[in-house]
Amino acid sequence: MQLNGLRATGLSKSFAGVPALRDVSLDFPAGAVTALMGENGAGKSTLIRILGGDHRPDTGRLELDGVVLEPATPADARAAGIRVIGQEPEIVPHVSVAENVYLG
Ligand SMILES: Nc1ncnc2c1ncn2[C@@H]1O[C@H](COP(=O)(O)OP(=O)(O)OP(=O)(O)O)[C@@H](O)[C@H]1O
Ligand SMILES: [Mg+2]
Repeated sequence: MQLNGLRATGLSKSFAGVPALRDVSLDFPAGAVTALMGENGAGKSTLIRILGGDHRPDTGRLELDGVVLEPATPADARAAGIRVIGQEPEIVPHVSVAENVYLG
């Protein structure tokens, strides 16, 4: 059944053979606030980085309003309407504070 919103199906992601996500399926229905909770290292940021185009999943797929979405870059995710605010300050050291504030 098509979901109005963002759907992740069967996402897996490993780093150097260490699994961060294993077969994760999750819906983000349009118009709802969805909270993702889990212990440190559970894979929350990895999931968000896949949605945001920072990482490619090893397996699984994303659909936005029923259309397959394959963000290969953060720009692709932005173009699809996905905005990510980093958990930790992610600064670019060689530009000014003001330029860091307005990144993205
Ligand atoms: N770029 C990376 N290279 C290697 N391992 C990584 C990388 N990113 C995440 N991991 C590993 O993947 C697992 C999931 O990490 P992730 O940062 O997604 O968890 P989290 O749920 O966001 O944790 P926290 O609550 O501490 O923010 C951890 O074992 C982490 O060490
Ligand atoms: Mg995190």
